[in-house]
Amino acid sequence: MANTSNTKSALIIGASRGLGLGLVTEYAGRGWHVTATVRRLPAPDAFAQFGQQIKTEMLDINDLAAVEAFLPRVKDQLFDVVFINAGVGGPEGKNAETVTPAEMSDLFMTNAISPVRLGYKLVPLVKPGSGILAFMTSILGSVTLSGGTYAQLYCASKSALNQLTRSFVAELKANITVLSMHPGWVRTDMGGAGADIDVATSVKGLVDVLTSKAGSHVHEYLDYRGKTIPW
Ligand SMILES: NC(=O)c1ccc[n+]([C@@H]2O[C@H](COP(=O)([O-])OP(=O)(O)OC[C@H]3O[C@@H](n4cnc5c(N)ncnc54)[C@H](OP(=O)(O)O)[C@@H]3O)[C@@H](O)[C@H]2O)c1
Repeated sequence: MANTSNTKSALIIGASRGLGLGLVTEYAGRGWHVTATVRRLPAPDAFAQFGQQIKTEMLDINDLAAVEAFLPRVKDQLFDVVFINAGVGGPEGKNAETVTPAEMSDLFMTNAISPVRLGYKLVPLVKPGSGILAFMTSILGSVTLSGGTYAQLYCASKSALNQLTRSFVAELKANITVLSMHPGWVRTDMGGAGADIDVATSVKGLVDVLTSKAGSHVHEYLDYRGKTIPW
């Protein structure tokens, strides 16, 4: 993938479908070079229309060996945006009383531990000064707002992601911006057909918010319209 000093670039983690795929096409549509990670090849057909502007890499964020194999393939690049989007909904209809240890482990690894672990490893690839590292969280991770009445395990996993991200930022030495983003309630496999907004609306908003925060060196919890969410 050819890249020139004034062509912006993004790394989107978890880009096979839904919001991750939407972020890839939104950035590519704005002329950026995009590295998109997927768990399974072939990558979505939607990538084809952008030709060499999009490069695909294989990555399951819970697979330590896959992470170690992935890092050398991107280590010489500096990205304007690294967006860790991958996530799962967790076991349907389960709560703390009924969830199995294996289900809990998969949910918390995917939604909380693996994203932040990857964040530590990807900091050197975020452009110093103007670069942004974004985590896809949810408003359901807000202890203040979620109320605890819906999908308690998923909510807890996103609260854990938020807390781990705050600890990660407290340790961060790099001069970058970190954002914890809520995409809205979006019509994807996870969000369902009855959700409020479509993927295009969400990702346009997310990318606009990130663009407005470049160089701010804050850590904020924001929705796709730029509205602050209480932790
Ligand atoms: N949709 C909403 O309303 C909503 C609201 C708030 C927050 N979110 C968050 O937004 C993010 C994307 O959600 P979505 O609605 O687009 O969900 P989705 O359609 O279910 O897509 C989830 C994506 O995450 C990937 N993924 C899951 N586990 C992974 C792993 N271990 N390693 C690498 N990739 C993995 C999936 O890859 P595969 O195709 O290989 O499974 C897929 O690309 C999630 O973090 C979700 O929690 C969504």
